[in-house]
Amino acid sequence: MKKDAKVQELLDFYGEWFLDGSTIHSGEMTSNLYPYDSIFSPIQINSMTVKNRLVMAPMGNISMCDETGRPNEKMIAYFTERAKGGVGLITTGLVPVTHGIDNSITEIDKLSYFPRIDRSRTVFAGWRDLAASVHSYGSKIFLQVSAGLGRVGNPQCLVNSMKFPGSASFNPNWYMPQVPCLRFSDHSCKKMIKNIGQSAADAKAMNIDGIYLHGHEGYLLEQMTNPAFNRRKVGRYADWQAFGIDAVKCIRERTDKNFPIMYRIDLSLALNETYGDKMDKVKALRKFRNGRTIEQTLDYMKNLVKAGVDIFDVDLGCYDNWFLPHPPGSMPPGCFIDIAQIVKKYFEDNNILSNKGISVPVVAVGKLGYPDLAEKALRDGKCDMVMLGRPLLADPYWPNKARTNRVDEICPCIGCQEACINEFVDGGHPQCAVNPRTAFEEIYPETPLQARESKKIAVVGAGPAGIMCAVTAAQRGHKVILFEKSGRVGGRLNPGGVPKIKFDIVNYLNYLKGLCQRAAGDYDFELKLNTEATPQMLKDEGFDKVVVATGTKDIHLKLPGYEKAACRQAVEVLDNPALANAAKKIVVVGGGVVGCETAYFLNKELGKEVTVIEMTPEIMNHTCTANRGYMLKYMEDAGIKLYNCTKLISFEANGVKVMRNKSKTVPNPYLTWNPLLPENVLNPLAPKIKDESQEEFIEADLVVLAAGGRPDEQLFLSFQKELNTIEVYNIGDSFKGGKVFEATKSGYAAAMNL
Ligand SMILES: Cc1cc2nc3c(=O)[nH]c(=O)nc-3n(C[C@H](O)[C@H](O)[C@H](O)COP(=O)(O)O)c2cc1C
Ligand code: SF4
Repeated sequence: MKKDAKVQELLDFYGEWFLDGSTIHSGEMTSNLYPYDSIFSPIQINSMTVKNRLVMAPMGNISMCDETGRPNEKMIAYFTERAKGGVGLITTGLVPVTHGIDNSITEIDKLSYFPRIDRSRTVFAGWRDLAASVHSYGSKIFLQVSAGLGRVGNPQCLVNSMKFPGSASFNPNWYMPQVPCLRFSDHSCKKMIKNIGQSAADAKAMNIDGIYLHGHEGYLLEQMTNPAFNRRKVGRYADWQAFGIDAVKCIRERTDKNFPIMYRIDLSLALNETYGDKMDKVKALRKFRNGRTIEQTLDYMKNLVKAGVDIFDVDLGCYDNWFLPHPPGSMPPGCFIDIAQIVKKYFEDNNILSNKGISVPVVAVGKLGYPDLAEKALRDGKCDMVMLGRPLLADPYWPNKARTNRVDEICPCIGCQEACINEFVDGGHPQCAVNPRTAFEEIYPETPLQARESKKIAVVGAGPAGIMCAVTAAQRGHKVILFEKSGRVGGRLNPGGVPKIKFDIVNYLNYLKGLCQRAAGDYDFELKLNTEATPQMLKDEGFDKVVVATGTKDIHLKLPGYEKAACRQAVEVLDNPALANAAKKIVVVGGGVVGCETAYFLNKELGKEVTVIEMTPEIMNHTCTANRGYMLKYMEDAGIKLYNCTKLISFEANGVKVMRNKSKTVPNPYLTWNPLLPENVLNPLAPKIKDESQEEFIEADLVVLAAGGRPDEQLFLSFQKELNTIEVYNIGDSFKGGKVFEATKSGYAAAMNL
């Protein structure tokens, strides 16, 4: 099995980078390198100049178009906001141009949740309006054209339209590996290339500034151009470089020599390095052992430049190790800078120039939303441009704030993927957990509309929901007091930010503190810490409206032995890790995100032997596949035991008694190469789980409970009863225990209607 030493080194590093102080430090929102002269210097791409070195990453504009695929008001407002925020070059999310060929991309009745450019003139006006709108703020825009999704597309085409998904070769579908993807004929491949060329010509006619080929992450273009997926023996595309090179040549022919062509590529799928021996043992992976090596990728890139590519961005990985192309919060800041550097050095050493005769810029991507880190990568010559994806969802004004020395005002991405990726996986459109305006810019203006009448408002609870609500209400002209019973803001973000892999949460907490401080200076806003709001006090102080945001309370598992057990809630242990000092062996009860992150913390940072038990078949269900994939892989590498289908029955003197399903049909808890399907998607081919439960004792000297929380609605209910002349609302976790996403969203929406 071929492995690249550098890729292996990175994969190993990703599991414990946080033990290295300097890497963690590089993920702080500092402004030590201000002024950011490198970030804010122009660059030439083919004949075009971009005003700064910042590129907005492609992020699928799923359901941001009407049913024909024409970009709608939402999409135009969303990109315009980012242009206004100062980014030099915008790229759209993937736009597949192979409807009718790749069955996985088209919905029943030929509807599309992807924007389209290949349909007819029906869709053109939306692209024209979009280009004009972002140009008005001096940003350039490229359209990301995708050959399609192939094996990583929706397999429901088989049920909905009796058509198989396709791929370069006979490959399993990623969502449902039981569904085979059939090999596209050479004729179909040529048609795809023709469509790519036509889309480029149409995009150019719509005033889009360049074409961006979607060649990474194991999508169809990569399936055709990586020997892991393309095992064709005959025909033109048995040469795995041919499809990509033909596509680039076709774009050049259909546009002109000055039209920029960008290509997105992964330097390696990194599958062999991620999974090692499993590549031989696991059926779903076995076919993919022959991925491009770094050397082969560089050779392909050289040939792409000859064919006409002007600029690349590079990352690692594919769907089958999704935590790489979609790095969760737990990945290190700037995780692929070294990858960009490899390409840049190769181009420099080999004097590879574009057809224009100028150097080929290399764009770094992946967790680069820390201004000092981005500036340093450019100053050190590791890349020519810096791509920001989620940081621009979290704060579209990142560029302008960095340029004007307001780094502390940047709202940082927390790497949760709750609202950006998970939202569209679950059927919505991309949004952001920390920015409720993201993808709602068409209804929520940058400055919230002033309230018709200024009211006196109490917000109770200074977690993310309460802060968002209180600050927004104050911006709207209300007089607001934010009450917090404890001595700190942020609620459960405080224990949540303790594991070092959650450093982004610490950035967010700092941001929230700053937000409150600025609100106190700019508006009629006061934060009262260590203050318990009571009905009498709220009445006496004459509040017109009260918003309760008191969060959740932990579930206690009062099973036999509970009273005497050495047992703590996960949040208690995170808040005070000394509670685990005396323990060697720890059982964590609950394999959700809190349980797993706590287990990893206990093992990696405190050196404990940890077992996680979870009563359902799925570990970390409802968590983004990428975030889940990271945790499961590295928990397995760390030797953390994961027992799914395992129910706690009692607490014992030196451990716990459980009922554990030992059937071979119980899913492998460490399986990360295929995703868990959303619950409304039926997989009729999924294997059934048999029940062969047996009682088992697990030794432990500390039991950590992470069984979830319930809305803490007690205060709201008492206010509702006692404050019957005052409007009272319950928002965030105290309404429905959830995520930061739901908390900030409800806080903002409530404030906009007060
Ligand atoms: C919501 C979302 C959608 C994405 N869609 C695409 C896409 O359409 N095409 C693509 O090449 N990458 C896509 N990506 C990957 C991003 O372009 C980017 O590589 C990744 O988010 C890492 O960069 P970041 O850390 O700056 O966010 C998407 C990422 C997110 C969060
Ligand atoms: S939803 Fe989470 S990961 Fe996605 S952009 Fe927002 S903060 Fe970042």
